[in-house]
Amino acid sequence: MRISVFGCGYLGAVHAACMASLGHDVLGIDVDREKVAKLSRGVVPFFEPEFDKILRSAMDSGRLRFTAAPSATDLADVEVHFVTVGTPQSATGYAADLSFVEAAVDTVLATVAPGTRTVVVGKSTVPVGTAEDLARRLEPRGVTLVWNPEFLREGFAVTDTLRPNRIVYGLSANEEHARRGQAALDAVYAQLIAAGIPRIVTNYPTAELVKVAANAFLATKISFINGMAELCEATGGDVVDLAEALGHDDRIGHRFLRAGVGFGGGCLPKDIRAFVARAEELGAADAVSFLRQVDAINQRRRDRVIELAERSLKGSIAGARITVLGAAFKPNSDDVRDSPALDVARRLHDRGALVRVCDPKALDAVHRLHPGLATERDPLRALEGAELTLLLTEWTEFAELDPVAAADRVSRPVIIDGRNALDPGRWRAAGWTYIGLGRWFPAGSALQSPRQAYREPVVTVQRRKPRRRERNSVPSRADRAFTRPVTALGDRVG
Ligand code: UDX
Repeated sequence: MRISVFGCGYLGAVHAACMASLGHDVLGIDVDREKVAKLSRGVVPFFEPEFDKILRSAMDSGRLRFTAAPSATDLADVEVHFVTVGTPQSATGYAADLSFVEAAVDTVLATVAPGTRTVVVGKSTVPVGTAEDLARRLEPRGVTLVWNPEFLREGFAVTDTLRPNRIVYGLSANEEHARRGQAALDAVYAQLIAAGIPRIVTNYPTAELVKVAANAFLATKISFINGMAELCEATGGDVVDLAEALGHDDRIGHRFLRAGVGFGGGCLPKDIRAFVARAEELGAADAVSFLRQVDAINQRRRDRVIELAERSLKGSIAGARITVLGAAFKPNSDDVRDSPALDVARRLHDRGALVRVCDPKALDAVHRLHPGLATERDPLRALEGAELTLLLTEWTEFAELDPVAAADRVSRPVIIDGRNALDPGRWRAAGWTYIGLGRWFPAGSALQSPRQAYREPVVTVQRRKPRRRERNSVPSRADRAFTRPVTALGDRVG
């Protein structure tokens, strides 16, 4: 089939290449000329495992091309237009900004020839009610609308597109349009349907709700376990053991029960806020008022990391050398949108700490968004001279760090494991003061509350004897990197 894809971000670019790999003829459209130029050369503009292979083979097949300015002829014979543009949080509040969706629909309407049986398929995450509004504009012009939400996770985008765990069609209340829309999508996804992937056919509001409800559920599950982490902190309980025990009940399950610094990214935070905003508009605010708590618990985890950092530094964050392991909102991604790791790093920097951020893939984004933060790609070099280490994104290379080699680099072996990703026993055995979130504190340290005294053997923070190199009056290159001048954060460059 002849397909267009409006919006070539994580979702759209991957969708376009995957549709070409299924044998369709695909035109990817994006206003960002630089992105289009890269994609046209087969270069992936962001980090996404497996995407480069599928993009290159789609380009080689001649079935995929990209443009920033589609001509009327480009669009005239397209049978199915996918809309995969972003719906960011609006600048003025919680609601989603739908201007990119509207612009895509305007473009289709401007080029559609009378009498053609064009189908528009919405994949962007939108507030419930949007599809019905759009159909009111499209149907009088003979254009059919289907709402077909996507559930792809960054880091698994290709797998989630070609082997999704379900396909949802939201169809028009008009029978003719519903029939046409279903037939078109069945043809697009013929191979997936033949492979037995469950397909749920429903109406517009249900399809729109499936997406936000799924993300709201996942966010709630994470905040639930993080709420339990707060209770563990108040009682001397251990949230990792608690989650392990809860998850064995297969009605609960282990997934998305990892307590830590909380969720971030381009979807979960903004989707739950947009859901609350939409429910308020609909007069159904009470139905999702718990999502405000979900958001609040999530934000409190970031505050908690900063509080633990402050206490472990005996109140003096200003001037402290702090290494933050992680900037991406989760491992296997270079995405820093609403990243808890980067937010904590930025806030510590704002309070005068000498912060050095380490991440395998996201440092370009750190430089672009926060040029005042010092960065280092190599984890051991990043630890050089640190008085406090925070692990905030659980990349494998951080989780597998050798605590003995790491202890040798820092000036004070104290680590806050914001993802509960490390083995506390191994780190303590190597001389570290290990602090997990929702786990008990090391007895005898300044962090211990009286209630928790019985839980752990006394581990005191030991200051390592400075090595000869450190006693030297010339600071190492790594130490100088910590002392980079503090500049205003939040400056957007480029
Ligand atoms: C999410 C949904 O999973 C996906 O279905 C939807 O289409 C888009 O939004 P994504 O944003 O890629 O996908 O990330 P996800 O893997 O869901 O993780 C979201 C955040 O939750 C990350 O910051 C992650 O670190 C955090 N998380 C996840 C936890 O803090 N604990 C967990 O147990 C799981």
